[in-house]
Amino acid sequence: MSDPLSQHTDYGQLPLNDSDVLSDPIEQFRLWLSNASEANVYEPNAMVLSTVAANSSPSSRTVLLRAIDDAGFEFFTNYSSIKGRELISNPAAALVFPWYSIHRQVLVQGIARPVAAALSDQYFATRPRGSQIAAHASEQSQPIASRMLLEERVRECESEFEGHDVPRPADWGGFVVEPSTIEFWQGRSSRLHDRVRFVRSASDSWERMRLQP
Ligand SMILES: Cc1cc2nc3c(=O)[nH]c(=O)nc-3n(C[C@H](O)[C@H](O)[C@H](O)COP(=O)(O)O)c2cc1C
Repeated sequence: MSDPLSQHTDYGQLPLNDSDVLSDPIEQFRLWLSNASEANVYEPNAMVLSTVAANSSPSSRTVLLRAIDDAGFEFFTNYSSIKGRELISNPAAALVFPWYSIHRQVLVQGIARPVAAALSDQYFATRPRGSQIAAHASEQSQPIASRMLLEERVRECESEFEGHDVPRPADWGGFVVEPSTIEFWQGRSSRLHDRVRFVRSASDSWERMRLQP
């Protein structure tokens, strides 16, 4: 059996030439997301979100990108969770899209803001009923004594909402990460990877640079 810690993959099927990169990084991101989807990357919209606590301690976890537009990268969660509380007290956020199987990653830094309540309502209404009930039953990131207690809480919520629509919990909703930097990384042979980084300037236009690998 091969040792996963000593595996060495030489990347490099595809270059990221300057002339291939679109001038708008959001459009470039959309293109790469659709490439990842076409290449059957598992959960191509999964992104690792990093936040920073009041004591400067960083933490990371995966969330799913649900929309991308000029406002930024949108995801949904519980506002009282660890990430939710951290983003409300310190909106600095970083995202990583780790598309290993196609030798690409996208890195984003930005500021996270809660989205309008109407948008969270709209998205919550599209979720499967089981997920809606779970959003009520689970106080995300809080300790619980057993799985049994959680399942009991689910049953209580199911009977509470029986026969009618499940409303969005007040502490569940979206954030949008407004990007200040977006980096496109393409793995190349001999670790001479391509990195193209966009930095948003004070005038809101994007400056673009190539970084050493
Ligand atoms: C593939 C994947 C997708 C996930 N998507 C979400 C999501 O969109 N929203 C969310 O709140 N948690 C999502 N989670 C769970 C989070 O990673 C995390 O466990 C949870 O949000 C609690 O994080 P926190 O305690 O750091 O706030 C996902 C996990 C995985 C592995």
